[in-house]
Amino acid sequence: MSRARAAIILAAGQGTRMKSELPKVLHRVGGLAMLGWAITAAARLGCARTVMVVGAHAPQVRAHAAKALGEGGVAVQDPPLGTGHAVRAAEAALKGFAGDVIVLYADTPLLRPETLEALLAGRAGKALAVLGFEAADPTGYGRLVLGAGGAVERIVEHKDATEAERAIGLCNSGVLCADAAILFQLLARVGNNNAKGEYYLTDVVGLARADGISTHVVRGEQSEFIGVNSRAELAGAEAAFQARARAAAMDSGVTLIDPASVFFAHDTAIAADVVIEPNVFFGPGVRIAKGARIKAFSHIEGAEIGEDAQIGPFARLRPGAKLGAGVKIGNFVEVKNSSFGPKAQASHLAYIGDAEVGARANLGAGTITCNYDGFEKHKTVIGEDAFIGSNTALVAPVKVGARAYVGSGSVITKEAPDGALAVARAKQRDIPGWADAFRAKQQKPRGDK
Ligand code: UD1
Ligand code: CA
Repeated sequence: MSRARAAIILAAGQGTRMKSELPKVLHRVGGLAMLGWAITAAARLGCARTVMVVGAHAPQVRAHAAKALGEGGVAVQDPPLGTGHAVRAAEAALKGFAGDVIVLYADTPLLRPETLEALLAGRAGKALAVLGFEAADPTGYGRLVLGAGGAVERIVEHKDATEAERAIGLCNSGVLCADAAILFQLLARVGNNNAKGEYYLTDVVGLARADGISTHVVRGEQSEFIGVNSRAELAGAEAAFQARARAAAMDSGVTLIDPASVFFAHDTAIAADVVIEPNVFFGPGVRIAKGARIKAFSHIEGAEIGEDAQIGPFARLRPGAKLGAGVKIGNFVEVKNSSFGPKAQASHLAYIGDAEVGARANLGAGTITCNYDGFEKHKTVIGEDAFIGSNTALVAPVKVGARAYVGSGSVITKEAPDGALAVARAKQRDIPGWADAFRAKQQKPRGDK
């Protein structure tokens, strides 16, 4: 029987090296705030309770955590006196919880849920498990001092380590898992007599061993523990995420003609046999059904794309775009908060916002929904099989009936009935001979300058 799980996410550090008004953990990787990655990881582990420890200096982090986890999921650490002190700050919020507690950082977005599952599995029967990694350059990390039989005897911080201990390559990732009651009992005994004068979470390991509690290390890859402290590291984490997302997409049967030029979000969901051409950007909330093709230079966020749809090149799909099977959205077409029925198309140069487009409707080049009056957004409804002539302005709220035709250049302000032709433009007037007379008047005699 698996034990109940809770997560404590540490986010009370300052993060000043970002040089940003936005708190560090709210910077995004793959379109998701870094602290969101930790929250998602905890959710994927099935944590019954998740508590984020935030500093008093960052009300935005607090608000974000409260929104995601509820007020009960936020603990304030003020002032921040170390990682051990931070975990203790979450104790009250976990009152009544019995089971495993896993400690995560809010600034390590690349940690994979699979690795955390391995840590929890590694804990089975053991009181305490830490996630470690072999570092190419261990400088700055805490080192895991192993005893006979592979138990972790203690963790020594770089600043407190002897030369011999600094030669150890096995480092502490910071992620740790323990029985809740034991963890808080041990933490109550942690002091701050060390190089930084902080209450180190890592000291619980040595205390556990002194009490005869078993400890265990589970190894992960260093790349998963990239902690983001600067803009350069943020870009590094983004690159690592993109590399992972591209590989996962191709593994699942998506063709990327030039993987390095396609950018995914944390939740991009793409079915098999979708082809993505070069230079495509996905913001959050995109789902693409099988057989669709996303042509070069398209920017897509918050959109659902149906089977065999053709998008781009140079298309822009904004949040709320819902495109049915076989829809065609061509170059320089922007779609926002609009649904397209199966096989509807807008092939060139159009803005479609707050609209409902029926199946097989054809929107000509230059079709514009005038959806905003400066105060409110209004809806346009276009019936099935309707044909909108080029350069039409649809002044919403407005409706074009099923099978209706709209004459090119129309400004449609009232309903076009089903099956009708609606033309709303000035009537053409011809003045015979005018152009020839005009030219003759303008032309000077030959050879004259
Ligand atoms: C910590 C570990 C170290 C490990 C390294 C991995 C300790 C004592 N050391 O060191 O063994 O190798 O992480 O990156 O645990 N935080 C708070 N409140 C505080 C202090 C920190 O919430 O009072 C949070 C930070 O926001 C951050 C995390 O805890 O998310 C780690 O803090 P940081 O100061 O980066 O720890 P390190 O010194 O790097
Ligand atoms: Ca750190």
